[in-house]
Amino acid sequence: MPAPNPPVSSPPPSVRGGFILCPCHPGAEAALAARQAELLPAFSRGVWRRGVVTFRIGPEGFDPPDEFAPDLIFAHTVVRSLGQVSGGSVAELAVKVRALVGAVSWDAIHVWKREQRIDMAAADARAAVAAACGITLPDDQVAQPGDLVLDCMLDSADRWWVGWHRAGTPASRWPGGGYPGQLPEGKVSRAWLKLDEALASFGVDLRRGQRAIELGAAPGGACQRLLEAGLDVVGVDAAVVDASVAAHPRFEQWRMRAREVPLRRMKGCDWLLTDMNIDPASTMGALERVLGGGVRPAGVIATLKLPDWSRAADLPGWLDAFRAWGYEPRVRQLSTGGREVCVVATTRPAGRVTPATGRVTPASRRRATRRPEA
Ligand SMILES: C[S@@+](CC[C@H](N)C(=O)[O-])C[C@H]1O[C@@H](n2cnc3c(N)ncnc32)[C@H](O)[C@@H]1O
Repeated sequence: MPAPNPPVSSPPPSVRGGFILCPCHPGAEAALAARQAELLPAFSRGVWRRGVVTFRIGPEGFDPPDEFAPDLIFAHTVVRSLGQVSGGSVAELAVKVRALVGAVSWDAIHVWKREQRIDMAAADARAAVAAACGITLPDDQVAQPGDLVLDCMLDSADRWWVGWHRAGTPASRWPGGGYPGQLPEGKVSRAWLKLDEALASFGVDLRRGQRAIELGAAPGGACQRLLEAGLDVVGVDAAVVDASVAAHPRFEQWRMRAREVPLRRMKGCDWLLTDMNIDPASTMGALERVLGGGVRPAGVIATLKLPDWSRAADLPGWLDAFRAWGYEPRVRQLSTGGREVCVVATTRPAGRVTPATGRVTPASRRRATRRPEA
């Protein structure tokens, strides 16, 4: 067992690293790199593998703050990379991790697999690293805000990437930014878990007695989550909603397509959700009809499906449209979702000046609404 670590409030300069490491959905790497080029042009791309991209920190001499969390949308989280270790056994790898990071007092250890098919138990690796670093760990991998976290991404059974970060945002408290919640028994679809992650990662505060309408509601997992939060829920879908949801006393289904819903029936709702398996421009068209038509919920939780990753390039136009409707949008790709992004938009406080970037250009507006709703 190594000597106990001296208390160190932040990693010393020798252990800060010159790269950031961003876990992402397998396939989202190019979209993530495009976002980096837009947001952090002084950074340059490092290693690119399925499920992770690293970026060299720039310009020379820039040392990001401990809680560095740029809004990279497709990065599940952002950690400072210290490099890789290789070895033939978990114990050997763990000792090499300890040698690489030195004597830092970690509050938490996050271990995750770059891809699920990697044949090694993350829990075993975490226990070995904790033992090598002389740390007693709680079973719960979720870090507390402010915790200094040692990160290990299992690239393969014999190679791990090592890094660190300071926990701040909700996703930065989860190993690799992956939502630790599980789909409980009895939920009618994975959309329950997706909404659960959206609420946690954006810090959405649903209140009992509020009214929500979801466009694209069947079979009803998200509606189930809303009902559990105490909301009155309307599900809009031509398809059938699961009987267990349909029978709930606070649930009502409107069996129709989004474009057929009379707007007057939507007035007074607090939350508008969309989760339609249609082109994202069509979803934006449905939102335009409602939000541009005088219905003004306090918040919108919109899933925008990406038929292919290149459609991520349309995101700025879509976000401009939200701003034009008077909403402040935030967006990320949820770890439990598929090839899609989740936009959470809340009404902008009255009297706030629209930022220059929020102005809708005719081109972006056209792009946001160019296809008719399916
Ligand atoms: C991914 S599923 C929704 C999952 C659902 N949110 C849940 O929680 O289980 C997509 C749904 O969108 C519906 N849909 C597609 N186009 C639609 C439209 N124009 N209006 C309403 N629903 C639509 C489909 O019928 C399908 O049930």
